[in-house]
Amino acid sequence: MAQIDENPFDDTDEIFETKRPLKKDSFNPETIFHRDEEINFYVNALQDVAVGHEPNNVFVYGPTGVGKTEVTRWVRDKLLEKADDQDVPLEILGPVNCRNYKSSYRLVSRLVNEFRESKDELPNSGYSTDTVFDFLYEEIEQVGGNVLIILDEIDNIPPDARNDFLYDLPRAEASENAAIDQACIGLIGISNDLKFVDSLEPKVKSTLGEREIKFGPYDANELRDILGYYADIAFHDGVLTGDVIPLAAAFTAQERGDVRQGLKILEKAGEYARMGDSDMVTEEHTRRATETIETDEILESFENDLTRQQALTYVATTLAIIEPDHDARTKRIYSLYTSLADSVGSESRSERKLYEFLDQLSMQGFVRSEDHNQGRRGGRRFIYEVTDDPVDIINAVVKSDYSEALPNNVWDILKLYKEDEATEFEAPDPDNDSQRQIWQFT
Ligand SMILES: Nc1ncnc2c1ncn2[C@@H]1O[C@H](COP(=O)(O)OP(=O)(O)OP(=O)(O)O)[C@@H](O)[C@H]1O
Ligand SMILES: [Mg+2]
Repeated sequence: MAQIDENPFDDTDEIFETKRPLKKDSFNPETIFHRDEEINFYVNALQDVAVGHEPNNVFVYGPTGVGKTEVTRWVRDKLLEKADDQDVPLEILGPVNCRNYKSSYRLVSRLVNEFRESKDELPNSGYSTDTVFDFLYEEIEQVGGNVLIILDEIDNIPPDARNDFLYDLPRAEASENAAIDQACIGLIGISNDLKFVDSLEPKVKSTLGEREIKFGPYDANELRDILGYYADIAFHDGVLTGDVIPLAAAFTAQERGDVRQGLKILEKAGEYARMGDSDMVTEEHTRRATETIETDEILESFENDLTRQQALTYVATTLAIIEPDHDARTKRIYSLYTSLADSVGSESRSERKLYEFLDQLSMQGFVRSEDHNQGRRGGRRFIYEVTDDPVDIINAVVKSDYSEALPNNVWDILKLYKEDEATEFEAPDPDNDSQRQIWQFT
């Protein structure tokens, strides 16, 4: 029983000194580990700018969480410092994260406003995008010297404006129409989406990619150093047992070599220790953190990345894959989708629409399809797979707003597992007849 004069909150934190270094990118490290080669490439690409020659365009790419943005910031600061020492005129905008600007108008006006005092800033609407681009060129021309523009996550630039940003902008001084004469623009574009890179027109690719810098995933040893650095700041002295960092590093390296994921594991492990009133973070806490991290990541996608219709399609596809007796074909996915939509009171869309949702999910990397040719009978059929473990996906659905969509037998199965204390279920064993029975969804 909870008493009115009791307060369940603790007044101190025995585990974490500060959580800031573990939180999403809100912390800039003093040291950059294991990126000497990439920094070298960067310095070579930008050496001209440091002494006042015309800039090269630079294209930086690689998977998520491997230091592209952080290294870029570091190089930017060093470059500004050098230019300043040498009295070389240089203006650098950004990194501006394109993901935060839903339209090209917003993105260009943000760039314009970097040059302007707050009283002259552009409003959120009111001009054509072409006009705001002209304003941008005017501002740049007024600066006169080298202007570097750093655009981060450029795959988020709306497709119809990609040429404007990635081709026209870095070539503005060569173009007769743009009002750039005195100034020189260099563009640094950053992306983690290789499909996007492939989809660029060759002329855009060659303009932007004058210098390319590729960032690969970190290996376990590198991650040990990086995670160890953050852990030193985040945790109280001596609370981490010796296994925690190596284990988190090894797991992260096996997944995709992404620092952010490693930091999440450390935070989760610390929280498990705190919840269990332990004064040390142990291997066991870390192992548990790695087990829940995938479910958490999928849950985040449900909350942030997927529309309702996409989410229902994703869950239907997952159920169709788990079912022992069906292939995850569109017909089956559609019938599961309609019943899921029904359970959450959403209107189901047509089967043709479902193809669109599946395409969108596939573009975002949630599902994959395999094209099976039907041979002499003609026609083709697609069999779908999900890119994450179906069991992790269902465990995420259970915690999400879509839990009501799940068919009753999923809950029955969960209950079965709950009896032996586990809150997570496992996929059915296709060779076990009774399991096959309960795993048929209607
Ligand atoms: N070599 C490193 N040394 C120290 N910290 C690092 C290093 N690499 C990455 N980090 C830290 O890891 C986190 C993720 O790095 P960063 O934001 O640069 O990734 P990214 O490659 O830009 O990922 P995304 O493509 O998702 O934007 C940041 O908190 C960053 O400070
Ligand atoms: Mg980044």
